[in-house]
Amino acid sequence: MALSVNSVIHNQWSTRMAFMLAAIGSAVGLGNIWKFPYITGEYGGGAFVLVYLVCILLIGMPVMMAEILLGRRGRRSPINTMRELARAEKTSPAWRLVGWGGVLTGFLILSFYSVVAGWAFAYVIEGAVGSFNGLDGEGAGALFGDLTDSPGRLLFWHSLFIIMTTLVVAKGVRSGLERLITWLMPLLFVLLAVLVGYAMAAGDFARGLHFLFDVNFDRVFTVCDEAGVCTFTAEPVLVAMGHAFFTLSLGMGAIMAYGSYMPHDASIGSSTVMIALADTLIALMAGLAIFPLVFANGLEPGAGPGLVFVSLPIAFGAMPGGQVFGTLFFLLLVFAAWSSSISLVEPAVAWLTEDERLSRPKAAAIIGGLAWLLGVGSALSFNVWSGEEYQVFGKTLFDIKDYLTANIMLPLGGLAIALFTGWAVGHRLPESELALRSPTLFRAWYFTIRYIAPTGIVLIFLNAIGVL
Ligand code: PHE
Repeated sequence: MALSVNSVIHNQWSTRMAFMLAAIGSAVGLGNIWKFPYITGEYGGGAFVLVYLVCILLIGMPVMMAEILLGRRGRRSPINTMRELARAEKTSPAWRLVGWGGVLTGFLILSFYSVVAGWAFAYVIEGAVGSFNGLDGEGAGALFGDLTDSPGRLLFWHSLFIIMTTLVVAKGVRSGLERLITWLMPLLFVLLAVLVGYAMAAGDFARGLHFLFDVNFDRVFTVCDEAGVCTFTAEPVLVAMGHAFFTLSLGMGAIMAYGSYMPHDASIGSSTVMIALADTLIALMAGLAIFPLVFANGLEPGAGPGLVFVSLPIAFGAMPGGQVFGTLFFLLLVFAAWSSSISLVEPAVAWLTEDERLSRPKAAAIIGGLAWLLGVGSALSFNVWSGEEYQVFGKTLFDIKDYLTANIMLPLGGLAIALFTGWAVGHRLPESELALRSPTLFRAWYFTIRYIAPTGIVLIFLNAIGVL
């Protein structure tokens, strides 16, 4: 491929397809298979799913287009892209804070993400040695409890995952990623389809479907205390919006960094549609695989972060060939988490290596080391630091990092990106970069990024803090 002038600064993806695969690799991860089912279970099902889908459509997808276009126009790390574009468009240099905020958010996310990826890692081994065979609900709970009770095991897997991430990042985007993702994602999809099939046959599929798709706003937007007094709560809406950002990897520069390697002849609009579709499909399939099993085995949908790890092993333990399927499934989950975690550190590494400041291996080592250190606290919040004296507002360090990053930091980053693209930079920049075929389509997107997405985010924030 002919290199453009800009690729002197950054190397580019070798093909149009490669950008999309990498972006899908970033988007599809633990967010889809671990987090989506557990928060859907916690917040009561259908209505939560509906709000989440609306957020994907009206906030997530328009913001994704904005992030990609800024990245491709800037062709630098998110920090410098924001700085350069702000300078070129003669607006405030403070916009570069978006880049800095993204680097910090990426760190914080990786520091709990790697612990969950570590659970998946541990389950590859559990699956292979036959620990799932004949498990019932109680046994599955005990297996997961044994893992999270052990600081040593959690730290071991967390460390291994950080090392894996650091190694790929050290090798660079092009060589490290493209080949891997091409065949792993389709395989994950096939395995999920097998699991959905199994859930249809052996689980309580009807109840799972109702749970995921029956929209009952009362159940989601009211919380009842022990005395049966129910009050309105807007928290699920905040969590649904936060998850839309998290699952699409938006609001922290990951997609902006990937956009900076995107060739000019690739369409931002259709790439966004494909990425969002693939991501949503995988999440819904995970839900369809998990909830029928949850109900058929008397498990609690609101069981929290362990939901996937206590429900799926029951299925693997009972289905023919489950030992192979179970091992393979968790292995693919580790890979999916891996391709996401790489994008979590990409904004920081891109910045550190820009202008030959540091070599990629050095940058990767620094960042991996810091994320590892931060992650130790997440691992310990399941055992040594699980006590109330270590909690704030009833949340452990792990929960706090999860909540704060997804529900506050990413939406704030997304808000800033929407405002920057919609208001700070004039319409010519997005118009030429998006190069949408129809002017109407551009107007619809521009209206959404200027008005709908920012107002939506602000209203949801105000609602959640009780102002509205
Ligand atoms: N989107 C990833 C997932 O769903 C997580 C992620 C968030 C990755 C933010 C990069 C940036 O697992």
